[in-house]
Amino acid sequence: MGIRQGYSQSTRCGLSSEKPQKPATKSVTAGRRGALTGPVVNVPVWRASTHLYENVAALEAGKSGNHDGRFFYGRRGSPTQWSLAEALTEMEPGADGTMLYPSGVAAIACALLSVLKAGDVLLMTDNAYDPSRSLADGFLKRFGVETRYFDPLITDYDLLFCDRTKAILLESPGSLTFEVQDIPAICLAAKKRNVVTLLDNTWATSYFHTALEKGVDMAILSCTKYIVGHSDVMMGSVTTHKKYWTRLRQTAQQLGQTVSPDDAYLASRGLRTLSVRMKAHETSALQIAKWLQRQPDVAAVFHPALPDCPGHAFWKRDFTGSTGLFSFVHKGDAATAAVFVDALELFGIGYSWGGFESLALPVHPEKYRSVVPWNKAGTLIRLQIGLEDTDDLVADLGQAFARARDV
Ligand SMILES: Cc1ncc(COP(=O)(O)O)c(C=O)c1O
Repeated sequence: MGIRQGYSQSTRCGLSSEKPQKPATKSVTAGRRGALTGPVVNVPVWRASTHLYENVAALEAGKSGNHDGRFFYGRRGSPTQWSLAEALTEMEPGADGTMLYPSGVAAIACALLSVLKAGDVLLMTDNAYDPSRSLADGFLKRFGVETRYFDPLITDYDLLFCDRTKAILLESPGSLTFEVQDIPAICLAAKKRNVVTLLDNTWATSYFHTALEKGVDMAILSCTKYIVGHSDVMMGSVTTHKKYWTRLRQTAQQLGQTVSPDDAYLASRGLRTLSVRMKAHETSALQIAKWLQRQPDVAAVFHPALPDCPGHAFWKRDFTGSTGLFSFVHKGDAATAAVFVDALELFGIGYSWGGFESLALPVHPEKYRSVVPWNKAGTLIRLQIGLEDTDDLVADLGQAFARARDV
């Protein structure tokens, strides 16, 4: 291996290199920081709180500029965290920087806090992740921000905005009911009114959906999911362009947001295998979703890559793939669905998703809706399809359906 490859340099904010690379290549090469760490493939875990300066002049120089790539104090990160942040920036064309947070929820909260103030109106898609809603209805409300929910499939965007609207939080697809939104059209309408667009892009990641290219201002990830990929780290990120970079960064610093170098190392390690994992999740989940459509106990399957999923046409236009998370309606009541989930042997029962293992749980979108009620008969079950053999997963689902039928 030539030394140049090891020294593949990123700029301070991680702007893409001159040669265009496909996402799979970027996930392998992005974020290598040759200058500080030498020609190694993995930036090592660089644990430190305190940096010692040679003299007072160096101390003063270290403080100035407020940018990464210059060690200042542990809370501002070290090469391990900068490497991951730069890699995530490079994965998102049009981006100028990424901030890391100790969870996806912290990322959503800090992104919103960086653009909102008392008196502002926040628009939020009605299929948003429950903690995003509770942040808005609790914390943000107390600080004088009003949240208005809207139908994720709305087409008349002009109805959404008022003079006080300052930001719009999108989640596409929704992580329980999987409606895909017309992100470019919503962003265009928002931009005309100088409204900031934030997208929870956790389901697809920039690997399958390059959000900033579609007009999004801030692309938010729960890295806990597919970036980490191994169910052993909590982390979030927000990637943005120049216009919002300074305030995003300042807000994170003012709120003391930081991630450990050990966690950043594990997330970088996950990123290196993102492409093979995503393709495997995609193939297996699609096969299982199509199999589920044929089962007598299933009333509907919500998977963005299936034609009858709400917003499928937008998925087809804007995304380059689908991932392992989708849901289906079991025709039985909650008790029958619980028997089905309990009978699964390969699927764990647990929150989260994006790891190598399959998970299942009944979900209740009816509890988290303000303007578009969810009133489908039956019980919604969400599946995360992991990296087990698809045939084994299908057999497991088949025996669980049979067990639930017997009660
Ligand atoms: C769509 C979505 N966004 C954000 C989050 C929050 O991420 P974290 O659990 O890392 O705080 C989750 C977690 O389940 C999620 O499903």
